[in-house]
Amino acid sequence: MCGIVAYIGQKDAKPILLEGLKLLEYRGYDSAGVAVLTDAGVEVARAVGRVAVLEDKLEQQAKSGKAFAGTLGMAHTRWATHGGVTEINAHPHQDDQAGIAIVHNGIIENYAALRKLLEEKGHTFQTETDTEVLAMLIGELYAPSEGVDLEKAVQAALREVTGAYAIVVMCAQEPDVLVCARKGSPLIVGVGNGEYVVASDASAIVRHTTQAIPLDDYNVCRITREGFRTSDLQDEQVSPKVMQIEMDLEEIELGGFTHYMQKEIFEQPASMRNTLRGRIDHNEGKVVLGGVAGFAKELVKAKRVILTAQGTALHSAMIGEYLLEDLAKVPTECEYASEFRYRNPIIEDGTVVVAISQSGETADTLAALGEAKDRGALALGVVNAVGSTIARETDAGVYLRVGPEIGVASTKAFLGQVTVLTLISLFMGRRRFMSQVECEQLLTELERVPTKIESILAQADEIRKVTEKYVTKENWLFLGRGYNYPVAMEGALKLKEISYIHAEGMPAAEMKHGPIALITDGMPAVFIANRGAQYEKVISNIEEVRSRGGHVIAIATEGDDRIGNVAEDVIYVPDIPEPLSPLLTVVPLQLMAYYAAVARGHDVDKPRNLAKSVTVE
Ligand code: G6P
Repeated sequence: MCGIVAYIGQKDAKPILLEGLKLLEYRGYDSAGVAVLTDAGVEVARAVGRVAVLEDKLEQQAKSGKAFAGTLGMAHTRWATHGGVTEINAHPHQDDQAGIAIVHNGIIENYAALRKLLEEKGHTFQTETDTEVLAMLIGELYAPSEGVDLEKAVQAALREVTGAYAIVVMCAQEPDVLVCARKGSPLIVGVGNGEYVVASDASAIVRHTTQAIPLDDYNVCRITREGFRTSDLQDEQVSPKVMQIEMDLEEIELGGFTHYMQKEIFEQPASMRNTLRGRIDHNEGKVVLGGVAGFAKELVKAKRVILTAQGTALHSAMIGEYLLEDLAKVPTECEYASEFRYRNPIIEDGTVVVAISQSGETADTLAALGEAKDRGALALGVVNAVGSTIARETDAGVYLRVGPEIGVASTKAFLGQVTVLTLISLFMGRRRFMSQVECEQLLTELERVPTKIESILAQADEIRKVTEKYVTKENWLFLGRGYNYPVAMEGALKLKEISYIHAEGMPAAEMKHGPIALITDGMPAVFIANRGAQYEKVISNIEEVRSRGGHVIAIATEGDDRIGNVAEDVIYVPDIPEPLSPLLTVVPLQLMAYYAAVARGHDVDKPRNLAKSVTVE
């Protein structure tokens, strides 16, 4: 949600900032801006729309002699929270007296009270944003003649603030200093040779350096070309934790694909092989999970598991609930993190709470995790982004290892989450009730999934043609049962997110309790009708839709020659034991959503109003 990149070093800052913004654009893209410290002071340019619009604007300005030449600067790509999407509300924001410029991710909750106070002191505001309030507050406190330099002014301002922030601040009066800080919103300081790249996301740093310091909450970092100092808000020095960014450049490049979402769908066989690598012990018919090995006893004895997440990750949690009860025989529930955190949940002895998150930064999931920890639960993370806040805040966890996911609509991370939840279920199940033979059979099948996904991807063109037949329809249903009910939810979410078609996902049986009233002539209904315990029941539900004029698209098991008699279109997936079936059935639904969005001419990787990582409640 919003992207920050800042640079201090020997090189020209502008191209580095623009390149960084493009890599971060997936985090927010309604407006963008840049500030560079030049000989003339702080120069700022902002534009509504994509980074490309800002780039054009900078080119025009360069032609009229404003080159933004300087070796210290900051930039921001915005996803509006406070204030409309206008140029004036775009970041960087400035104060009205000290020459302060700031970029900010997050929300300052007490901004209205602070603004009133600052207005009483005579400050005049240009924008409706909480960020400008922070710029003014830092400017108000800045008093170099009294020993309050930029670092101290930032510390003092942040002591007054409630809310979440990742900020980078610069000041015309201290032309060789960048100050950054975080609370609740990620910020990483990339440490190069005589240069530093600060960003909200490692992808904007990795081209420059792989050494980085992920800031902790309430850390303030003062950076000059000679070095940096990390402190807390009381100015006590903090020892920085240096980490290595493990990310290949190819992982953040399109590599011949048109869209990141397309690339990430097609990457799934490889990403799933990565998720599984080294985690299966065939000799013992066991799962090996280094990240939770220290808590194996607690997991084996767990009395209850609560899975919590938001968005697509919640759908993987819903599948996790089926997997854990079915394979590990542990009572499990699954809950939106946003609800869990506020509803005074009961956590008894032996409760394990698992937070599932691609980014590891989702505000509600993070807060749910905190609530669970405070109440004494063992807190585990199923996270993709290495070193992210959730990964660091949990007692233990299992990384997805699917590489950076850039398309806003999550695909390979979902597959990674379901794979990890399957591994955790087998890890616990085998140590609780499952025989070696039983576990080994499922593990062997699990290892075959990537190849089976390849065979589904090979049908992409067929899937595109089926999708294009229905792409003008504005209302779709997605229906499934058992393990594939959450897949139906995920299929509907994917379609909504990027093609803006209204879609509902639900258990197939639930349709009769209301949604059936919506079925009209030609309405597409996607049924996940693979072979499984409830196959016959799904066929009955298909008949109910057909008899009301709906058009059925069935996701069915290869070799099912009956389904063609009841469905207009059939997409086949290979046969697989039912607990593993979501790993296959979701893939055609991802492709359908992708092709629908392309056919409708949408910007697949940057759907309207969405953000990749939601770091506000
Ligand atoms: C946003 C994204 C979704 C994602 C959800 C949870 O809404 O657009 O794709 O599923 O956040 O994100 P997380 O990073 O916690 O998995």
